[in-house]
Amino acid sequence: MKRSLHALILAAGKGTRFKSEKIKVLHTLMGKSMLRIVLDSISRLKPEKIHIVVGYQKDSIEAEISGDRINCVVQREQTGTANAVLSAKSVLSKEGSSDLLVMNGDLPLIRTETLRPFLKYHQKINNSLTFMTAEPENPFGFGRVFKNKNGGFFVVEEKDTTSAQKKIKEVNVGIYLFNIKDLFRALPKISNKNKKGEYYLTDIIEIMSSEGKKVGKFKTGFREEVVGVNDRYELALAVDVLRKRKILSLTAKGVTVYDPKTTWIDFEVEIGGDTILYPSVFLEGKTVIGRGCKIYPFSHIIDSRIGDRTKVLTSTVIEKSMLEKDVQVGPFTRLRPNSRLKQGAKVGNFVEMKNTVFGKGAKAGHLSYLGDSEIAQDVNIGAGTICCNYNGEKKSKTVIEEGAFIGSGVELVAPVRVGKKAYVGAGSTITKNVSPGSLAVERGKQIERKNWARKRRK
Ligand code: UD1
Ligand code: CA
Repeated sequence: MKRSLHALILAAGKGTRFKSEKIKVLHTLMGKSMLRIVLDSISRLKPEKIHIVVGYQKDSIEAEISGDRINCVVQREQTGTANAVLSAKSVLSKEGSSDLLVMNGDLPLIRTETLRPFLKYHQKINNSLTFMTAEPENPFGFGRVFKNKNGGFFVVEEKDTTSAQKKIKEVNVGIYLFNIKDLFRALPKISNKNKKGEYYLTDIIEIMSSEGKKVGKFKTGFREEVVGVNDRYELALAVDVLRKRKILSLTAKGVTVYDPKTTWIDFEVEIGGDTILYPSVFLEGKTVIGRGCKIYPFSHIIDSRIGDRTKVLTSTVIEKSMLEKDVQVGPFTRLRPNSRLKQGAKVGNFVEMKNTVFGKGAKAGHLSYLGDSEIAQDVNIGAGTICCNYNGEKKSKTVIEEGAFIGSGVELVAPVRVGKKAYVGAGSTITKNVSPGSLAVERGKQIERKNWARKRRK
Protein backbone atom coordinates (compact mmCIF):
# COMPACT_ATOMS: atom_id res chain seq x y z
CA MET A 1 0.00 0.00 0.00
CA LYS A 2 1.22 3.47 -0.81
CA ARG A 3 1.49 5.55 2.35
CA SER A 4 2.16 9.25 2.67
CA LEU A 5 5.76 10.36 2.99
CA HIS A 6 7.65 12.74 5.26
CA ALA A 7 11.33 13.52 4.87
CA LEU A 8 13.98 14.38 7.42
CA ILE A 9 17.36 15.83 6.45
CA LEU A 10 20.17 15.61 8.98
CA ALA A 11 22.08 18.88 8.90
CA ALA A 12 23.01 19.74 12.47
CA GLY A 13 26.66 18.71 12.34
CA LYS A 14 29.34 21.35 11.86
CA GLY A 15 31.35 19.43 9.29
CA THR A 16 34.64 19.62 11.17
CA ARG A 17 36.59 18.18 8.28
CA PHE A 18 35.66 21.24 6.18
CA LYS A 19 37.77 23.45 8.45
CA SER A 20 35.38 26.31 7.82
CA GLU A 21 33.67 29.08 9.73
CA LYS A 22 30.57 28.15 7.79
CA ILE A 23 28.52 25.01 8.41
CA LYS A 24 29.20 22.35 5.82
CA VAL A 25 25.74 22.06 4.25
CA LEU A 26 25.71 25.78 3.37
CA HIS A 27 28.80 25.53 1.19
CA THR A 28 27.79 25.94 -2.44
CA LEU A 29 28.25 23.84 -5.52
CA MET A 30 27.54 25.55 -8.85
CA GLY A 31 25.60 28.35 -7.23
CA LYS A 32 23.46 26.24 -4.90
CA SER A 33 24.07 25.24 -1.31
CA MET A 34 24.55 21.56 -0.58
CA LEU A 35 21.41 21.68 1.55
CA ARG A 36 19.33 23.23 -1.23
CA ILE A 37 20.53 20.60 -3.70
CA VAL A 38 19.45 17.83 -1.33
CA LEU A 39 16.16 19.62 -0.68
CA ASP A 40 15.49 19.92 -4.40
CA SER A 41 16.02 16.25 -5.11
CA ILE A 42 13.81 15.25 -2.16
CA SER A 43 11.11 17.78 -3.09
CA ARG A 44 10.56 16.10 -6.42
CA LEU A 45 9.33 13.03 -4.51
CA LYS A 46 6.52 15.29 -3.29
CA PRO A 47 6.59 14.43 0.42
CA GLU A 48 3.87 15.93 2.63
CA LYS A 49 6.53 17.85 4.45
CA ILE A 50 10.31 18.14 4.69
CA HIS A 51 11.90 18.54 8.12
CA ILE A 52 15.50 19.53 8.69
CA VAL A 53 17.46 18.78 11.85
CA VAL A 54 19.48 21.90 12.61
CA GLY A 55 21.88 22.69 15.43
CA TYR A 56 25.19 24.26 14.55
CA GLN A 57 24.59 27.71 12.91
CA LYS A 58 20.87 27.06 12.83
CA ASP A 59 20.06 30.70 12.11
CA SER A 60 21.95 30.72 8.84
CA ILE A 61 20.24 27.49 7.80
CA GLU A 62 16.86 28.96 8.64
CA ALA A 63 17.73 32.04 6.57
CA GLU A 64 18.75 29.89 3.60
CA ILE A 65 15.44 28.06 3.51
CA SER A 66 13.19 30.93 4.55
CA GLY A 67 10.05 31.17 2.51
CA ASP A 68 10.00 27.45 1.82
CA ARG A 69 7.43 25.33 3.55
CA ILE A 70 10.02 23.42 5.50
CA ASN A 71 10.05 22.64 9.17
CA CYS A 72 13.23 22.95 11.25
CA VAL A 73 13.77 20.89 14.38
CA VAL A 74 16.63 21.65 16.71
CA GLN A 75 19.18 19.13 17.95
CA ARG A 76 20.68 20.78 21.04
CA GLU A 77 23.94 18.84 21.12
CA GLN A 78 25.47 17.06 18.17
CA THR A 79 25.86 13.65 19.79
CA GLY A 80 25.30 11.57 16.68
CA THR A 81 22.92 10.80 13.84
CA ALA A 82 20.55 8.75 16.04
CA ASN A 83 20.18 11.64 18.42
CA ALA A 84 19.58 13.95 15.45
CA VAL A 85 16.60 11.84 14.39
CA LEU A 86 15.37 11.67 17.96
CA SER A 87 15.10 15.49 18.04
CA ALA A 88 12.31 15.22 15.51
CA LYS A 89 10.29 12.79 17.60
CA SER A 90 7.65 15.19 18.90
CA VAL A 91 6.80 16.52 15.42
CA LEU A 92 6.99 13.20 13.64
CA SER A 93 5.30 10.78 16.01
CA LYS A 94 2.02 12.50 15.06
CA GLU A 95 2.58 11.14 11.56
CA GLY A 96 2.68 7.50 12.72
CA SER A 97 1.04 6.08 9.64
CA SER A 98 3.45 7.74 7.18
CA ASP A 99 6.81 6.62 5.92
CA LEU A 100 9.85 8.69 6.77
CA LEU A 101 12.78 9.26 4.45
CA VAL A 102 15.87 10.10 6.51
CA MET A 103 18.82 11.43 4.56
CA ASN A 104 22.21 12.79 5.53
CA GLY A 105 22.53 16.41 4.45
CA ASP A 106 25.91 15.87 2.80
CA LEU A 107 24.80 13.79 -0.20
CA PRO A 108 24.41 16.34 -3.01
CA LEU A 109 24.87 13.88 -5.85
CA ILE A 110 21.82 11.75 -5.14
CA ARG A 111 19.20 12.30 -7.82
CA THR A 112 15.46 11.98 -7.43
CA GLU A 113 15.67 9.20 -10.03
CA THR A 114 17.77 7.22 -7.58
CA LEU A 115 15.45 7.84 -4.63
CA ARG A 116 12.29 6.94 -6.50
CA PRO A 117 12.86 3.18 -6.99
CA PHE A 118 14.11 2.98 -3.39
CA LEU A 119 10.85 4.44 -2.12
CA LYS A 120 8.83 2.25 -4.44
CA TYR A 121 10.62 -0.86 -3.22
CA HIS A 122 10.17 0.06 0.44
CA GLN A 123 6.46 0.71 0.04
CA LYS A 124 5.87 -2.36 -2.09
CA ILE A 125 7.26 -4.85 0.39
CA ASN A 126 6.05 -2.83 3.35
CA ASN A 127 9.27 -2.85 5.37
CA SER A 128 9.76 -1.31 8.81
CA LEU A 129 13.12 -0.13 7.59
CA THR A 130 14.83 -0.12 4.23
CA PHE A 131 18.33 1.35 3.97
CA MET A 132 20.21 2.17 0.81
CA THR A 133 23.53 0.50 0.12
CA ALA A 134 26.10 0.71 -2.66
CA GLU A 135 29.53 -0.50 -3.65
CA PRO A 136 31.47 2.70 -4.24
CA GLU A 137 34.89 2.63 -5.80
CA ASN A 138 36.46 3.49 -2.46
CA PRO A 139 34.52 2.34 0.62
CA PHE A 140 36.78 4.19 3.06
CA GLY A 141 34.87 6.29 5.60
CA PHE A 142 31.54 4.54 5.10
CA GLY A 143 29.76 2.18 7.46
CA ARG A 144 30.11 -1.40 6.14
CA VAL A 145 27.05 -3.62 5.75
CA PHE A 146 26.85 -7.18 7.18
CA LYS A 147 24.25 -9.90 7.35
CA ASN A 148 23.65 -11.60 10.71
CA LYS A 149 22.72 -15.24 11.35
CA ASN A 150 18.96 -14.80 11.39
CA GLY A 151 18.95 -13.01 8.05
CA GLY A 152 18.95 -9.47 9.45
CA PHE A 153 21.61 -6.80 8.92
CA PHE A 154 24.03 -4.67 10.89
CA VAL A 155 26.40 -1.83 10.02
CA VAL A 156 29.86 -1.22 11.43
CA GLU A 157 31.21 2.32 11.21
CA GLU A 158 34.65 2.80 9.64
CA LYS A 159 36.23 3.71 12.98
CA ASP A 160 34.89 0.54 14.63
CA THR A 161 35.78 -1.91 11.86
CA THR A 162 38.40 -4.63 12.17
CA SER A 163 40.91 -4.89 9.34
CA ALA A 164 38.99 -7.88 7.96
CA GLN A 165 35.72 -5.91 8.04
CA LYS A 166 37.34 -3.01 6.20
CA LYS A 167 37.60 -5.25 3.12
CA ILE A 168 33.81 -5.37 2.80
CA LYS A 169 32.76 -3.34 -0.22
CA GLU A 170 29.04 -2.87 0.42
CA VAL A 171 28.42 0.32 2.37
CA ASN A 172 25.65 2.22 4.06
CA VAL A 173 24.77 5.28 1.92
CA GLY A 174 23.12 7.33 4.67
CA ILE A 175 19.56 7.21 3.29
CA TYR A 176 16.83 5.30 5.10
CA LEU A 177 13.11 4.72 4.87
CA PHE A 178 11.30 4.03 8.11
CA ASN A 179 7.89 3.16 9.36
CA ILE A 180 7.63 6.09 11.78
CA LYS A 181 6.07 4.14 14.67
CA ASP A 182 8.73 1.42 14.55
CA LEU A 183 11.50 4.03 14.25
CA PHE A 184 10.65 5.88 17.44
CA ARG A 185 10.11 2.66 19.34
CA ALA A 186 13.61 1.41 18.52
CA LEU A 187 15.54 4.70 18.58
CA PRO A 188 15.89 5.06 22.38
CA LYS A 189 17.58 1.65 22.50
CA ILE A 190 20.68 2.95 20.73
CA SER A 191 23.70 3.46 22.98
CA ASN A 192 26.89 5.42 22.44
CA LYS A 193 29.31 2.65 23.33
CA ASN A 194 31.61 2.90 20.33
CA LYS A 195 34.94 4.48 19.36
CA LYS A 196 33.43 7.91 18.71
CA GLY A 197 31.12 7.87 21.74
CA GLU A 198 28.25 8.92 19.45
CA TYR A 199 24.69 7.69 19.06
CA TYR A 200 24.85 6.01 15.64
CA LEU A 201 21.62 5.87 13.68
CA THR A 202 23.11 2.89 11.89
CA ASP A 203 22.75 0.79 15.06
CA ILE A 204 19.00 0.82 14.54
CA ILE A 205 19.50 -1.61 11.67
CA GLU A 206 20.71 -4.33 14.01
CA ILE A 207 18.19 -3.45 16.73
CA MET A 208 15.20 -3.63 14.42
CA SER A 209 16.55 -6.76 12.72
CA SER A 210 16.96 -8.59 16.02
CA GLU A 211 13.46 -7.59 17.12
CA GLY A 212 12.10 -9.38 14.09
CA LYS A 213 11.01 -6.21 12.28
CA LYS A 214 11.05 -6.36 8.51
CA VAL A 215 14.41 -4.78 7.63
CA GLY A 216 15.72 -4.76 4.08
CA LYS A 217 18.41 -3.12 2.04
CA PHE A 218 18.15 -1.53 -1.36
CA LYS A 219 21.36 -1.56 -3.32
CA THR A 220 21.71 1.22 -5.85
CA GLY A 221 23.83 0.79 -8.96
CA PHE A 222 24.56 4.51 -9.13
CA ARG A 223 27.70 4.20 -7.07
CA GLU A 224 29.14 7.59 -8.07
CA GLU A 225 26.15 9.34 -6.48
CA VAL A 226 26.67 8.04 -2.99
CA VAL A 227 29.89 9.85 -2.10
CA GLY A 228 29.30 11.97 0.95
CA VAL A 229 30.92 15.39 0.98
CA ASN A 230 32.93 15.40 4.18
CA ASP A 231 35.83 17.67 3.20
CA ARG A 232 36.70 20.23 0.55
CA TYR A 233 38.37 17.76 -1.73
CA GLU A 234 35.18 15.73 -1.82
CA LEU A 235 33.35 19.00 -2.52
CA ALA A 236 35.54 19.50 -5.59
CA LEU A 237 34.87 15.93 -6.73
CA ALA A 238 31.13 16.46 -6.29
CA VAL A 239 31.24 19.72 -8.26
CA ASP A 240 32.96 17.87 -11.07
CA VAL A 241 30.13 15.33 -11.26
CA LEU A 242 27.42 18.00 -11.13
CA ARG A 243 29.18 20.11 -13.76
CA LYS A 244 29.33 17.22 -16.20
CA ARG A 245 25.66 16.47 -15.56
CA LYS A 246 24.69 20.06 -16.31
CA ILE A 247 26.72 20.14 -19.51
CA LEU A 248 25.29 16.81 -20.60
CA SER A 249 21.74 18.09 -20.17
CA LEU A 250 22.51 21.26 -22.16
CA THR A 251 24.23 19.45 -25.01
CA ALA A 252 21.27 17.08 -25.19
CA LYS A 253 19.08 20.13 -25.81
CA GLY A 254 21.24 21.35 -28.69
CA VAL A 255 23.86 23.57 -27.06
CA THR A 256 27.45 23.22 -28.30
CA VAL A 257 30.05 23.13 -25.54
CA TYR A 258 33.50 22.86 -27.12
CA ASP A 259 35.41 22.17 -23.94
CA PRO A 260 33.41 20.74 -21.02
CA LYS A 261 36.55 20.66 -18.88
CA THR A 262 36.84 24.44 -18.75
CA THR A 263 33.20 25.46 -19.02
CA TRP A 264 31.47 26.41 -15.76
CA ILE A 265 27.71 26.64 -15.74
CA ASP A 266 25.66 27.08 -12.59
CA PHE A 267 22.64 24.89 -11.88
CA GLU A 268 20.00 27.44 -12.80
CA VAL A 269 21.48 28.72 -16.05
CA GLU A 270 19.30 28.20 -19.13
CA ILE A 271 20.63 28.16 -22.68
CA GLY A 272 18.78 27.96 -25.99
CA GLY A 273 19.55 25.59 -28.85
CA ASP A 274 22.32 26.25 -31.37
CA THR A 275 24.19 28.46 -28.97
CA ILE A 276 27.94 27.84 -28.93
CA LEU A 277 30.07 28.09 -25.82
CA TYR A 278 33.80 28.38 -26.47
CA PRO A 279 36.32 27.12 -23.90
CA SER A 280 36.71 28.82 -20.52
CA VAL A 281 33.27 30.37 -20.30
CA PHE A 282 31.73 31.06 -16.86
CA LEU A 283 27.96 31.36 -16.59
CA GLU A 284 26.62 32.02 -13.13
CA GLY A 285 23.41 32.47 -11.19
CA LYS A 286 20.10 32.82 -12.96
CA THR A 287 21.59 33.60 -16.35
CA VAL A 288 19.40 32.93 -19.39
CA ILE A 289 20.96 32.77 -22.85
CA GLY A 290 18.88 32.65 -26.00
CA ARG A 291 19.21 30.61 -29.17
CA GLY A 292 22.02 30.85 -31.69
CA CYS A 293 24.33 32.90 -29.46
CA LYS A 294 28.10 32.70 -29.44
CA ILE A 295 29.90 33.09 -26.16
CA TYR A 296 33.65 33.40 -26.68
CA PRO A 297 36.48 32.45 -24.29
CA PHE A 298 36.92 33.95 -20.83
CA SER A 299 33.48 35.53 -20.79
CA HIS A 300 31.96 35.72 -17.34
CA ILE A 301 28.19 36.23 -17.24
CA ILE A 302 26.34 36.55 -13.94
CA ASP A 303 22.56 36.74 -13.40
CA SER A 304 21.95 38.19 -16.87
CA ARG A 305 19.71 37.66 -19.88
CA ILE A 306 21.17 37.39 -23.35
CA GLY A 307 18.87 37.53 -26.39
CA ASP A 308 18.93 35.29 -29.44
CA ARG A 309 21.90 35.46 -31.83
CA THR A 310 23.87 37.76 -29.56
CA LYS A 311 27.65 37.51 -29.61
CA VAL A 312 29.71 37.95 -26.48
CA LEU A 313 33.33 38.29 -27.58
CA THR A 314 36.42 37.29 -25.60
CA SER A 315 37.01 38.40 -22.01
CA THR A 316 33.74 40.19 -21.43
CA VAL A 317 32.14 40.51 -18.00
CA ILE A 318 28.35 40.94 -17.76
CA GLU A 319 26.58 41.23 -14.44
CA LYS A 320 22.83 41.57 -13.71
CA SER A 321 22.23 43.02 -17.16
CA MET A 322 20.08 42.39 -20.17
CA LEU A 323 21.15 42.15 -23.79
CA GLU A 324 18.42 41.92 -26.39
CA LYS A 325 18.63 40.04 -29.71
CA ASP A 326 21.46 40.47 -32.21
CA VAL A 327 23.67 42.48 -29.90
CA GLN A 328 27.45 42.29 -30.04
CA VAL A 329 29.66 43.03 -27.05
CA GLY A 330 33.36 42.69 -26.42
CA PRO A 331 36.13 41.85 -26.53
CA PHE A 332 36.88 43.26 -23.07
CA THR A 333 33.54 44.92 -22.40
CA ARG A 334 32.35 45.31 -18.82
CA LEU A 335 28.63 45.59 -18.17
CA ARG A 336 27.93 46.26 -14.51
CA PRO A 337 24.48 45.81 -12.95
CA ASN A 338 21.41 47.17 -14.60
CA SER A 339 22.72 47.71 -18.09
CA ARG A 340 20.27 47.12 -20.89
CA LEU A 341 21.45 46.84 -24.48
CA LYS A 342 18.68 46.97 -27.03
CA GLN A 343 18.43 45.02 -30.24
CA GLY A 344 21.37 45.29 -32.62
CA ALA A 345 23.50 47.42 -30.29
CA LYS A 346 27.27 47.08 -30.62
CA VAL A 347 29.67 47.68 -27.77
CA GLY A 348 33.38 47.09 -28.10
CA ASN A 349 36.75 47.07 -26.41
CA PHE A 350 37.11 48.50 -22.93
CA VAL A 351 33.66 50.00 -22.71
CA GLU A 352 32.08 50.03 -19.26
CA MET A 353 28.43 50.58 -18.42
CA LYS A 354 26.36 50.61 -15.26
CA ASN A 355 22.72 51.50 -14.93
CA THR A 356 22.70 52.27 -18.62
CA VAL A 357 20.06 51.90 -21.30
CA PHE A 358 21.80 51.59 -24.65
CA GLY A 359 19.47 52.02 -27.63
CA LYS A 360 18.60 49.92 -30.60
CA GLY A 361 21.49 49.85 -33.08
CA ALA A 362 23.57 52.27 -30.97
CA LYS A 363 27.35 51.90 -31.08
CA ALA A 364 30.18 52.45 -28.63
CA GLY A 365 33.25 50.92 -30.16
CA HIS A 366 36.07 51.74 -27.79
CA LEU A 367 37.33 52.92 -24.40
CA SER A 368 34.32 54.58 -22.84
CA TYR A 369 32.57 54.88 -19.48
CA LEU A 370 28.82 55.27 -19.90
CA GLY A 371 27.49 54.93 -16.35
CA ASP A 372 24.01 56.15 -15.32
CA SER A 373 22.94 57.08 -18.82
CA GLU A 374 20.10 56.73 -21.26
CA ILE A 375 21.38 56.45 -24.77
CA ALA A 376 18.76 56.29 -27.51
CA GLN A 377 18.52 54.47 -30.80
CA ASP A 378 21.30 54.86 -33.40
CA VAL A 379 23.53 57.03 -31.23
CA ASN A 380 27.24 56.81 -32.02
CA ILE A 381 29.62 57.13 -29.10
CA GLY A 382 33.21 58.07 -30.05
CA ALA A 383 36.26 56.51 -28.45
CA GLY A 384 37.08 57.74 -24.99
CA THR A 385 33.67 59.18 -24.11
CA ILE A 386 33.05 59.57 -20.40
CA CYS A 387 29.75 60.17 -18.67
CA CYS A 388 30.87 62.13 -15.61
CA ASN A 389 28.11 60.74 -13.40
CA TYR A 390 29.49 61.44 -9.93
CA ASN A 391 30.35 64.77 -8.35
CA GLY A 392 31.64 63.29 -5.12
CA GLU A 393 28.22 63.42 -3.50
CA LYS A 394 25.62 62.09 -5.86
CA LYS A 395 25.15 60.31 -9.14
CA SER A 396 23.44 62.10 -12.04
CA LYS A 397 22.13 61.01 -15.35
CA THR A 398 23.23 61.63 -18.93
CA VAL A 399 20.60 61.47 -21.67
CA ILE A 400 21.57 61.21 -25.32
CA GLU A 401 18.67 61.36 -27.73
CA GLU A 402 18.11 59.43 -30.92
CA GLY A 403 20.73 59.57 -33.65
CA ALA A 404 23.11 61.94 -31.81
CA PHE A 405 26.81 61.73 -32.57
CA ILE A 406 29.35 62.05 -29.79
CA GLY A 407 32.90 62.69 -31.02
CA SER A 408 35.95 61.09 -29.48
CA GLY A 409 37.32 62.11 -26.10
CA VAL A 410 34.12 63.83 -24.93
CA GLU A 411 33.22 64.35 -21.28
CA LEU A 412 29.51 64.67 -20.59
CA VAL A 413 29.11 66.25 -17.14
CA ALA A 414 25.83 64.94 -15.74
CA PRO A 415 23.06 65.90 -15.38
CA VAL A 416 23.12 66.76 -19.04
CA ARG A 417 21.15 66.06 -22.21
CA VAL A 418 22.23 65.90 -25.85
CA GLY A 419 19.28 66.44 -28.19
CA LYS A 420 18.13 64.38 -31.13
CA LYS A 421 20.60 64.20 -34.03
CA ALA A 422 22.92 66.74 -32.37
CA TYR A 423 26.70 66.55 -32.76
CA VAL A 424 29.28 66.98 -30.04
CA GLY A 425 32.77 67.81 -31.30
CA ALA A 426 35.71 65.68 -30.25
CA GLY A 427 37.46 66.65 -27.04
CA SER A 428 34.55 68.70 -25.65
CA THR A 429 33.61 68.91 -22.00
CA ILE A 430 29.84 69.32 -22.14
CA THR A 431 28.25 70.93 -19.07
CA LYS A 432 25.11 72.39 -20.66
CA ASN A 433 22.31 70.68 -22.57
CA VAL A 434 22.80 70.49 -26.35
CA SER A 435 19.66 71.27 -28.37
CA PRO A 436 18.42 68.88 -31.07
CA GLY A 437 20.16 69.10 -34.43
CA SER A 438 22.92 71.51 -33.31
CA LEU A 439 26.68 71.15 -33.01
CA ALA A 440 28.35 71.72 -29.65
CA VAL A 441 32.09 72.19 -29.40
CA GLU A 442 33.87 73.14 -26.21
CA ARG A 443 37.54 73.29 -26.82
CA GLY A 444 40.45 75.73 -26.27
CA LYS A 445 41.59 77.43 -29.47
CA GLN A 446 44.58 75.72 -31.02
CA ILE A 447 47.59 77.98 -31.07
CA GLU A 448 50.70 77.42 -33.14
CA ARG A 449 54.15 78.99 -32.72
CA LYS A 450 56.17 78.67 -35.91
CA ASN A 451 59.67 77.22 -35.51
CA TRP A 452 59.20 76.90 -31.75
CA ALA A 453 61.04 73.62 -31.55
CA ARG A 454 64.17 74.91 -33.25
CA LYS A 455 64.30 77.98 -31.00
CA ARG A 456 63.95 75.83 -27.89
CA ARG A 457 66.92 73.72 -28.86
CA LYS A 458 69.07 76.84 -28.97
C1 UD1 B 1 27.34 8.39 8.15
C2 UD1 B 1 26.91 6.97 8.58
C3 UD1 B 1 27.70 5.94 7.80
C4 UD1 B 1 27.50 6.16 6.31
C5 UD1 B 1 27.85 7.58 5.92
C6 UD1 B 1 27.47 7.84 4.49
C7 UD1 B 1 26.25 7.18 10.92
C8 UD1 B 1 26.64 6.87 12.33
N1 UD1 B 1 27.13 6.82 9.99
O1 UD1 B 1 28.70 8.57 8.51
O2 UD1 B 1 27.29 4.64 8.14
O3 UD1 B 1 28.27 5.24 5.59
O4 UD1 B 1 27.14 8.51 6.73
O5 UD1 B 1 27.87 9.10 4.05
O6 UD1 B 1 25.19 7.68 10.70
N2 UD1 B 1 24.50 15.01 11.90
C9 UD1 B 1 23.58 15.64 12.73
N3 UD1 B 1 23.76 15.54 14.07
C10 UD1 B 1 24.78 14.86 14.63
C11 UD1 B 1 25.70 14.22 13.80
C12 UD1 B 1 25.53 14.31 12.42
O7 UD1 B 1 22.63 16.26 12.27
O8 UD1 B 1 24.84 14.82 15.87
C13 UD1 B 1 24.32 15.11 10.44
C14 UD1 B 1 25.49 15.77 9.76
O9 UD1 B 1 25.29 17.18 9.65
C15 UD1 B 1 25.52 15.08 8.38
C16 UD1 B 1 24.86 13.73 8.64
O10 UD1 B 1 24.23 13.81 9.90
O11 UD1 B 1 24.77 15.77 7.42
C17 UD1 B 1 25.87 12.59 8.63
O12 UD1 B 1 26.87 12.82 9.60
P1 UD1 B 1 28.39 12.54 9.32
O13 UD1 B 1 29.14 12.89 10.54
O14 UD1 B 1 28.81 13.14 8.05
O15 UD1 B 1 28.37 10.93 9.20
P2 UD1 B 1 29.45 10.01 8.49
O16 UD1 B 1 30.63 9.89 9.36
O17 UD1 B 1 29.65 10.44 7.11
CA1 CA C 1 29.12 12.25 5.97
